[in-house]
Amino acid sequence: MLLTFLGQAGFVLEADGKTVLIDPWVTGNPVAIAKADDLDADTILLSHAHNDHGIDDAQAIAKRTGATVITTFELGEWLGAQGVKAIPGNHGGTIAFDGGSVKFTPAWHTSSYQTGPDTFVAAGVPAGLIIRFGGLTIYHTGDTALFRDMELIGEAGIDLMCVCIGDHFTMGPDDAIRAVRFVGPKAVVPMHYNTFPPIKQDGEAFKRQVEADAPGVICYPLKPGQQHRFDV
Ligand code: NI
Ligand code: MN
Repeated sequence: MLLTFLGQAGFVLEADGKTVLIDPWVTGNPVAIAKADDLDADTILLSHAHNDHGIDDAQAIAKRTGATVITTFELGEWLGAQGVKAIPGNHGGTIAFDGGSVKFTPAWHTSSYQTGPDTFVAAGVPAGLIIRFGGLTIYHTGDTALFRDMELIGEAGIDLMCVCIGDHFTMGPDDAIRAVRFVGPKAVVPMHYNTFPPIKQDGEAFKRQVEADAPGVICYPLKPGQQHRFDV
């Protein structure tokens, strides 16, 4: 499976001729490496509604490509009402898509879609994602604080964990390393950092600390646009 980092919490997953986008925020993203018009997808997964997770771009890409958007209940219903082919799910549930499946996990965070300085659409609750695709099991934490039940998520046998490390809005590096130890993945890709000043972090330092504190785990601090192929 080929993974491309889009910056913030956004990824492209490609395997077996299928393309999955996760939280594909590019329009207005200071570190974007693509335009929404350049991104193709069969399936788009959204962890929550915050604008830095690509709700607007997901709508545009889904309408142009016919991709299915899978997300939490209120956000999925709302996207459906905007004319997007959307499947709403919720925590604990698994939804199959073309080439894989996604199960929603809890995430300690908030979820709303901001339409102006003082106007928000309430969009239910945020989620993490356990994705089975390309023969791999991937845990995308979404935006979250550390929580002990990540150990339960680890029981799914996680090959790759995409973990938020930016601090301020989510876990910072120290809690992210504890999260990696709770989950026990084979590989880690840090995310949700270095997009704007409050979430500035050192990805290489995070890699060194993960590999020291969680022996056997390999960390790939990808820059936006960088790719890595993860084998089964
Ligand atoms: Ni958020
Ligand atoms: Mn975010």
